[in-house]
Amino acid sequence: MHKVSRGFIYFFGALGGILFGYDTGVISGAILFIQKQLHLNTWQQGWVVSGVLLGALFGAIIIGPLSDKLGRRKLVLAVSVIFFVGAIGCGLAPEFWTLILFRFVLGIAVGGASTLVPMYMSEVAPAEMRGTLSSLNQLMIMSGIFLAYVTNYAWSGMYHGWRIMLAAAAVPAAILFIGGLFLPESPRFLVRVGKIDEAREVLGQLRNADAVESELSDIEEKAKIKMGGWSDLFSKVARPALIIGVGLAIFQQVMGCNTVLYYAPTIFTDIGFGVSAALLAHIGIGIFNVIVTAVAVVIMDKVNRKTMLIVGALGMAASLFTLGIAMHYSHGSMSAAYTAAIALTIYIAFFSATWGPVMWVMIGEVFPLNIRGLGVGLSGTVNWTANMIVSLTFPTLLAALGTEVLFIGYGVLCVLAIWFVHSGVFETRGKTLEQIEGYLDDRAGVTTK
Ligand code: GLC
Repeated sequence: MHKVSRGFIYFFGALGGILFGYDTGVISGAILFIQKQLHLNTWQQGWVVSGVLLGALFGAIIIGPLSDKLGRRKLVLAVSVIFFVGAIGCGLAPEFWTLILFRFVLGIAVGGASTLVPMYMSEVAPAEMRGTLSSLNQLMIMSGIFLAYVTNYAWSGMYHGWRIMLAAAAVPAAILFIGGLFLPESPRFLVRVGKIDEAREVLGQLRNADAVESELSDIEEKAKIKMGGWSDLFSKVARPALIIGVGLAIFQQVMGCNTVLYYAPTIFTDIGFGVSAALLAHIGIGIFNVIVTAVAVVIMDKVNRKTMLIVGALGMAASLFTLGIAMHYSHGSMSAAYTAAIALTIYIAFFSATWGPVMWVMIGEVFPLNIRGLGVGLSGTVNWTANMIVSLTFPTLLAALGTEVLFIGYGVLCVLAIWFVHSGVFETRGKTLEQIEGYLDDRAGVTTK
């Protein structure tokens, strides 16, 4: 095994997030050109956009659990190959069905990465830095989305530009594969499969020498528990973790974040801006989100996760209600359009600083080791399903209800999210993964020693 630095491990461990962001973000601009050249109707356009979401829904539930058997690292390599094939396939697609097929293939990789990255990062990070390191995933996702907007803009003048926009994702995929070859396996997975010496060696790379043995023996203690199956995921011990995983996954999406990220240009034109101003505002939102996410990465281990979620949902609700009221009282006026644009930007900033990163961080850390892949896989699939429902229904709901009613509706769901976090989520910041597991055992009244 090659020895690589900690920085290398954290960077390449989180890099899958770039592809997650790029492949979900790139289509919003590319579809304008694809639609013309491949003569797509509205229904077909919807599927080109959502094909990745559908693939991701399967990818999370297949690849998450598989990583409990084969290890996190092998699957990172497999996923980078799928990313590569999917990107080239989409770029070369001669007609609708081939494009859909490869968008679906890409989605499998996106779903896989969405489960592997949070698990791998939480398993290699020391407890006191786990929030920051795991949230690098979201920073990569946002950077990927931003890169996609830039590529969209850069190639929009060329007839076959959309092919380059889609195929360009092959470059980070290849980089991920090469980096992945040098990544060590997660020490927790290694203990799980009895490779204690190898786990000691990896922990030696990740921790100061005096911290290795005590962490190793804590992990060994938990790894003695028999590998779990679906029934263990629903057992009394795992239930509080499952409620957090599934609940956060649903709320993160139904509060409406992706309607803004996927459809901001539509929303901006709807509230009164011209097309070019709307496209520029989209890029502006992209840059702003990368900056806000970077702030979240820095504060993640200093502020409780629950506080972040509650403050985030409060801020999102307040912005959405402001948006609704502005639209209601002065629809059509330019001052209402500006108030609405500012409210949307603040809304998405609150999301990027809180729910965006915290959901993925928490699903990576709440589940016990013997069912971690299953739990993260299921939560990921629920998140992608909710994402798909919200994204597919958005254009219809917007046409039927109008911006104000629809966004007030998402605001009401933000208020429900506050109730959920308050009553259903327990705090994980600063605890080791094994302490979190111990807490679940105590709560269910079981002793595992
Ligand atoms: C989170 C969400 C994802 C969204 C992204 C935007 O990762 O899970 O759906 O697109 O944030 O930053």
